[in-house]
Amino acid sequence: MTIRERLSGGLNNFLDRFGYAFIRINREYVPFRFVSHRGETYGYEDISCPDTLAPWLIDEEFKEVYNLVKGNTLVENYRCYELFQLVREVSRLPGDILEVGVWQGGTGVVLATAAKRWKPEARVWLCDTFTGVVKAGERDSQYVGGEHADTSIEIVNDLVARAQLDNVMILEGIFPEETAAQIDAAHIALCHVDVDVYESAAEIVRWVEPRMVSGACLVFDDYGYSSCRGITKLVDELRDAGTWIYIFNLNKHAILIKR
Ligand SMILES: C[S@@+](CC[C@H](N)C(=O)[O-])C[C@H]1O[C@@H](n2cnc3c(N)ncnc32)[C@H](O)[C@@H]1O
Repeated sequence: MTIRERLSGGLNNFLDRFGYAFIRINREYVPFRFVSHRGETYGYEDISCPDTLAPWLIDEEFKEVYNLVKGNTLVENYRCYELFQLVREVSRLPGDILEVGVWQGGTGVVLATAAKRWKPEARVWLCDTFTGVVKAGERDSQYVGGEHADTSIEIVNDLVARAQLDNVMILEGIFPEETAAQIDAAHIALCHVDVDVYESAAEIVRWVEPRMVSGACLVFDDYGYSSCRGITKLVDELRDAGTWIYIFNLNKHAILIKR
């Protein structure tokens, strides 16, 4: 590590701890930083990618659904577009679609709209506690439990109705122990994991992996996001285990494809 990197690392450990309040107040720009967390060093960098193909600007059906859901999601159009397209990619595989971590329903409705178009036989299972994040632990950064409780099953039902979808099944409770038994699908072709913390995500993987055939897809939101280091750790462990083909997308998605 260079002296410049060491200095940046020290400053940014401090900034990480104080949640960037310092930067926001002073309007300073810090393009990269290093952070130590539980004995591991993570590097973070602000990146941009000029002149990139941007199909999310062109695809009318995607634009329509994104305009409908954007007030109900924490996920921006790039990741929503990727979810939309991944449904198409798994459309020839057997199985339903599962999302754990629904909040107000935005990404779930994106998935269900894509399924209506490309995988009409599939049901889309949307699972959430509707009382916020659970199972936060020492592997996680920032999350302590209870975040994102500002939702309800009624909010999601209302969005599903406005999107005119009839392929959605909403399950309320902690996944998998309180709700997974209601999922009667033999296979899951695509699973979107958006639960913010290590243990919840790890239990989803344990439940879903035996139900996935070769080519099925696990998408992790928040991979690489400094507030969700538990998700980064879990995905890196899964990558190293070798069961999955690992794709690191710079938009804060990790995509794992079953070998
Ligand atoms: C970041 S939000 C999901 C955001 C959503 N996908 C969107 O479109 O903005 C995370 C959600 O995960 C849910 N959650 C976390 N762990 C869970 C678990 N084990 N079972 C069910 N829901 C869980 C929380 O209740 C919260 O609503």
